[in-house]
Amino acid sequence: MAAHDPDLPGVAATKRVQWPLLAIPVQPIISIKPPFRGILKLTKTGNNELVGFCVDVDSVRVLWEEAKPTLEVKSMRRITVTVVLAAAAFFYPLTASAAPGDGIAGSKHDFTDDASQDVGLCTFCHTPHQASSTKLLWNHELTTNTFSWDVPSTTAGTTFPTVQGDTYQGPSVKCLSCHDGSVAIGDVNWFNGGDPGILWNRKFSEGEIYAVGYGGDMGGNHPLAVPYPYNNVANTYNGSTTGDGIQLGEWQADPVSLGIRMFNDDGSGNIAAGPVAGQTGIECSSCHDVHNKASVGLYLLRGTLTGNDSNYICLKCHVK
Ligand code: HEC
Ligand code: HEC
Ligand code: HEC
Ligand code: HEC
Repeated sequence: MAAHDPDLPGVAATKRVQWPLLAIPVQPIISIKPPFRGILKLTKTGNNELVGFCVDVDSVRVLWEEAKPTLEVKSMRRITVTVVLAAAAFFYPLTASAAPGDGIAGSKHDFTDDASQDVGLCTFCHTPHQASSTKLLWNHELTTNTFSWDVPSTTAGTTFPTVQGDTYQGPSVKCLSCHDGSVAIGDVNWFNGGDPGILWNRKFSEGEIYAVGYGGDMGGNHPLAVPYPYNNVANTYNGSTTGDGIQLGEWQADPVSLGIRMFNDDGSGNIAAGPVAGQTGIECSSCHDVHNKASVGLYLLRGTLTGNDSNYICLKCHVK
């Protein structure tokens, strides 16, 4: 297999190469979509250095090491398939990774080990002084991308917004300032009495698992910074009003009671957390909790990724 893969020249597919000494074997922690057989290639986060690979996709055992490898899969047909590295919760008893709800320490947003110098847990995102925006005392360089979708409106007729990275007040642009790949993860404003420079030079690349809204392109992404039909009526949020085609009965009246975080817009662009009748909307953090406190499922989700019961993330807003 590997012999036909130019990315892995001369290495037998069944062999594992150069595992780091600290490698810890864990149970299957990845899910693969769509199912296929191929080569699992582990590269180090940041510099893409190959740390190993394995092929036995039906009974995957991934070696996890402290450098937090990213996974990349290439099939024999040279199709790149997304591999989802599941959250620490269930299978990392031997590591410090946080389970859903355990807080930010040890979660994917704990960058203390990634920084080029000792920093605190909050440093990459917040600072008490010299913030890049007063809102959220934001410490990370904001993206200057303009985010838009590839169609004008949702099926219901709700207009998709155009959101400016460095001026929109909703929290999604804070997420996108890392996840859109335009700004280094460690490009912060202030730490320990000065501008520390870039603390971690990693940027997400186009198409990689963690990249969202790369280059400002939100096409293919669930709507956000849009109104939610809170109380089963049309709402207005971020300059957009729920479209006439909405099926108002097919929504949870109050997703907050189900663990979802909603936001409100006072009409002049000031956005705060919490629903307000008629002016409620959703952001990235309606579905995810960046601090891993309210998360109950994989990917910092406020609902589960799997299943068909009331804990399932999609049913916390949609009544389908
Ligand atoms: C990876 C970035 C990131 C890190 C690290 C981070 N936060 Fe946040 N924080 C955010 C974002 C984004 C929000 C906006 C919350 C939302 O949209 O739900 C936020 C919101 C907040 C708020 C406002 C209240 C709230 O929860 O919405 C406080 C307070 C806060 N963070 C404190 C902290 C503290 C203290 C730490 C360190 C222990 C920390 N954060 C680490 C990104 C981060
Ligand atoms: C300071 C940069 C930064 C900010 C701000 C940030 N993230 Fe992340 N996020 C990352 C990085 C880096 C990773 C992947 C870490 C890794 O490679 O191990 C990540 C991972 C994630 C993951 C995957 C978690 C998992 O367990 O697999 C989700 C979901 C996520 N971020 C959502 C968000 C949301 C939502 C926000 C805003 C509320 C946000 N992020 C803000 C840098 C950031
Ligand atoms: C409507 C709910 C919802 C919203 C809004 C949302 N996400 Fe997600 N997100 C999910 C779900 C569900 C997954 C798991 C997808 C999967 O892999 O099956 C996910 C996965 C992710 C991942 C892990 C990689 C992946 O694609 O699977 C990242 C990173 C992420 N989201 C970041 C963000 C950011 C940043 C925003 C805002 C710009 C955002 N999300 C808005 C529901 C949402
Ligand atoms: C936080 C609430 C929330 C969650 C959770 C949520 N959605 Fe949505 N969803 C919305 C809102 C709001 C809209 C826009 C409705 C409109 O058209 O006005 C929407 C729209 C949609 C649409 C219609 C898109 C279009 O072009 O018309 C689909 C499909 C959808 N969501 C699927 C999902 C799936 C699948 C999940 C789970 C992964 C999910 N949603 C989770 C709130 C949510």
